Amino acid sequence: MLPTITWRNRSVIMIDQRKLPAQEVYIRCRTYIQVAQAIEKMVVRGAPAIGIAAAYGLVLGLMSARADTGRSLERDFDKIYRRLERTRPTARNLFWALERMRAVYERDRGLGLRALQKSLLAEAQAIESEDAATCRLIGLNGRDLIRDGAAVLTHCNAGALATAAYGTAMGVIRAAVEQGKKVRVFADETRPFLQGARLTAWELKRDGIPVVLITDNMAGWLMHKGEIAAVVVGADRIARNGDTANKIGTYSAAVLARENGVPFYVAAPVSTIDATIEDGRAIPIEERKPEEVREIGGRLITVPDIEVRNPAFDVTPAKYITAIITERGVCRPPYKFGVGPS
Ligand code: MRU
Repeated sequence: MLPTITWRNRSVIMIDQRKLPAQEVYIRCRTYIQVAQAIEKMVVRGAPAIGIAAAYGLVLGLMSARADTGRSLERDFDKIYRRLERTRPTARNLFWALERMRAVYERDRGLGLRALQKSLLAEAQAIESEDAATCRLIGLNGRDLIRDGAAVLTHCNAGALATAAYGTAMGVIRAAVEQGKKVRVFADETRPFLQGARLTAWELKRDGIPVVLITDNMAGWLMHKGEIAAVVVGADRIARNGDTANKIGTYSAAVLARENGVPFYVAAPVSTIDATIEDGRAIPIEERKPEEVREIGGRLITVPDIEVRNPAFDVTPAKYITAIITERGVCRPPYKFGVGPS
């Protein structure tokens, strides 16, 4: 299987996540505009994966830059950077990856366009390969939190499809399974975009990890009945105090977990932490188009012009989060990221 997203022959190849699980189709982006559109349309999604996509997008943009040095190179770079930055507002990893690329640009812009293009490509490839290694470490750090025989609830898709490989929340589950534990996953379907039903279910089935699909509103009842031992989710942005933005519905799962005495874990790379913001109130929440709520699989399920709200993410206050698992270890409350070593 090809990775979620990678670089091949001067283009970015990504699996079209809108088509899964019905079709396994890979698309090729040859321009930075195509990459930006792929992020917006959710061909590629998941915080680390869109960071990788944006980094490769910047490489593609600079590959077609005309100017070699000076003011016009600067103008080209800024235009490409701003287009990619505008794609999706919530996931910190997108901005983190672009900032890493900008640092390389600043360092090597004086070396000439060819050398600059080479070092930008090397940096984007490093972002991709480091993410795969980071997910493995998140898995190793988190696996002992999952006991043998546990049923674990996850929301959205924080798996291989959302990262370079292996996944964050799913990395923890995979690592527990690799330890020899029997783990069963409850996958929330994750309305409206159905990342759980379409992507998490597909990934886990392929890996032979037992998975049970539920609609989002069933999770609370199953927790109440003692059928769920832990919740593990990914994150799009984590504030200094541990408040965590993730797929809409995560907050409800966290409150229900607390009510029912079920531990609630967030698994994410350090690149998801936004040390510039104090708490979750400052996290920008993307609002997506109403059709995603009015329709399922392109079929209208309600009154055509019904008013709709469609926030794509919510913020779970840190007080509901039992632990945050990163590649550096397991953090427990009170969370104080960005103050001393995280
Ligand atoms: O809108 P999406 O599908 O990009 O949202 C993805 C999520 O909310 C994931 O849980 C998060 O990005 C973590 S992915 C490792």
